[in-house]
Formats: sequence, C-alpha cells, structure tokens
Amino acid sequence: MTLRAVIKGTGHYLPERVVENSWFEDKIETSDEWIRARTGIERRHFADEGQTTSDLAIRAARAALDDAGMQADDIDAIVLATSTPDLTFPAVATMVQAGLGMTRGFAFDVQAVCAGFVFALANAEGLIRAGQARRVLVIGAETFSRIMDWEDRSTCVLFGDGAGAVVLEGVEGRGDSNDRGILATDLNSDGQYRDLLYVDGGVSSTGTAGHLKMQGNLVFRHAVEKLARTAHTALDKAGLSPEQVDWLVPHQANERIITATAQKMGVPMDKVVLTVADHGNTSAASIPLALSVAASQGRFKPGQVIVTEAIGGGLSWGSVVLRW
Ligand code: ACO
Repeated sequence: MTLRAVIKGTGHYLPERVVENSWFEDKIETSDEWIRARTGIERRHFADEGQTTSDLAIRAARAALDDAGMQADDIDAIVLATSTPDLTFPAVATMVQAGLGMTRGFAFDVQAVCAGFVFALANAEGLIRAGQARRVLVIGAETFSRIMDWEDRSTCVLFGDGAGAVVLEGVEGRGDSNDRGILATDLNSDGQYRDLLYVDGGVSSTGTAGHLKMQGNLVFRHAVEKLARTAHTALDKAGLSPEQVDWLVPHQANERIITATAQKMGVPMDKVVLTVADHGNTSAASIPLALSVAASQGRFKPGQVIVTEAIGGGLSWGSVVLRW
C-alpha cells in the first residue's frame, strides 16, 4: 500500500477590479493588439488598495474547504506559495490559519516564484507520505501588482493578482499508476540564471520591496525547453506516456509558451486548460486558479490524468502528475 495525496476540493478568488489591456494604452507605449498577440492576455484582476495576499488566500481557502465538504479544523497543515507576502514575516500561511479560525496544525510559506505552487504541492505530498499531516491546504496567492514598475511596458502588462487553493488528503493506494492522487513530482532550480527574472529589492539588500525585472525573451526560451523536459520526467516517474495525459494545466504566463510546450510534449491544445486571457500571469496562483476554474466547469472526470508544470524566477521549475 502507498499513501497518495488526493485532491478533495478546489477553490479560487479573484479581486473584483478587472483591468482590460486598453487601460495601459494611455499610460505606456503599448496596445491591446500587441499584448494579445504576444501573450494571449486580454485582462487581469488587481487587488484594491489595502487588500492583501492573505485576504485573497483566505477566500480561496474557504472555497476549497467548502468544495471538499471540510471545516478548517479538519486540516493538519497549510502550505502557501507566494512571492508577495503581506509582511516580511510571519508567513502568510499563518495569517490564513488565523483567518480561517484554525486552532491546530502548522502553516508555512514556500517561495519559488511562478513555480511556487508546484513546489508547494510536492512538499505537501511529502508531508502526507511521511505521516506528518493527513489533510493539507495548498494555496498559491499573489499580489504581483504591488511589485510592478508601471513604466516598464515589457513587464507591467503581464501580471495579475489572485489566489487558488486545493485540499489534499492522504488516501491508501495500490502504488501503481492507476491510483488516484499525486503520482509523481519533479522539481528543479538553477541559480546561475537568477538575473533573468528577479525583484530589485529586499530586506537584507535595499530594505525595500523592489520591482520586478525580467529578460522576457531569454526566460521564454528556457521556459519551453525546461517545461517540456520536466513534464516528461514526471510522466516517466509516474510510468505514464504523454498520450495518456487527459489535461495539461500549465503555469499561465504566456499563451505562446503554453502552446509551444504542449506541442513539444505532444499534447493537443483541446487538452490544455487556458486561463491566461482572463487572469494574466498570477505567478504562484496561476495553476491552482486554472485547476479550480476548470474543476468548477466540470471539465475533469474521476480517473483522468492531469499534468501541471511551471517555471519562474530562480530559475525554478517543475511538474506534478496526478490522477483526478
Ligand atoms: N507593448 C508594445 N511593445 C512592447 C511591449 C509592450 N507591452 N513590451 C515589449 N515591447 C517591445 C519591445 O520593446 C521590443 O521592441 P524592439 O524590438 O523595438 O526592441 C519588442 O516588443 C519585442 O520584445 P521582446 O521582449 O523580444 O518580445 P517577446 O516576443 O519576447 O515577448 C514577452 C515579450 C511577452 C515578455 C515574452 O518574452 C514572455 O512571455 N516571456 C516569458 C515571461 C514568462 O514566462 N515569465 C514566467 C515566469 S514569471 C515569474 O516567475 C515571476
């Protein structure tokens, strides 16, 4: 018998304020046509002033608990992925814990930028398999609008705010690829590429939050090559082939990256969940948002194979293969 981490519920929250591409047109030299053609993004949500990452995360967490039919005290641990915490410390996960009224268990944050949710899922699965927790709330939540340089047209049009959450529960499986739950994970980082995508501020350097800097075209090239490779590695570990994939739920950074990766993986576009048009790049929140949106539309059927993959600053990248 093998303990598998099965998704029991999903939920998400997007701030009410919707910002269309046209909003940028009188602020910087750009156009709705350029943004759509180069990224697939049409609009994104921005948090209101005073609305924090933990506010978004708490709403997504409540929705995921409702979907799972569970209460906050049914949860043993919260693992939350973010690069835009409310405060330097404590962890946003502990703010979510308090916000949910959860009085037991433990909570911590994971920081792997846009790959954060994949890293959080893999860590949560490890906790479950090690017997440290039976039910884990895994959250991706971001307010990237707070670290944008609004004069840098090559980055400020790309990102949005939001949160997504899943509830994982340990369930006995047979130990083969027919089990439900997480079947394999693959995590990678290569710090020699840290200058391709970073924030130019921090506690121990500038004492400020800083602004996002990215060499987009270089990140793009790494993304297609590394995402296809990590997804193949995770599928290999799970004992599955790309033809057996029912759904690819990729990090939603750029539709052109998603299309090129799916093509490299040999997965047709009708099996790819796309939310980038409506959400923009919400970093660690993008995969749980996409999972929750697709699940709420009834697109995933029990027993289907789902592959997630993401790359972000670090560079850090990885993939999770699971059976719904
Ligand atoms: N509007 C109009 N023109 C623009 C804009 C804009 N908003 N932004 C850039 N341009 C211009 C550039 O200045 C450049 O002009 P030039 O040729 O006169 O110099 C031209 O468009 C082409 O620029 P590129 O950067 O080469 O354009 P590219 O096709 O690579 O698209 C993009 C840029 C969308 C950023 C793309 O490179 C990309 O998506 N990269 C990956 C981003 C990503 O995946 N990040 C993931 C991780 S995010 C995280 O971890 C936080």
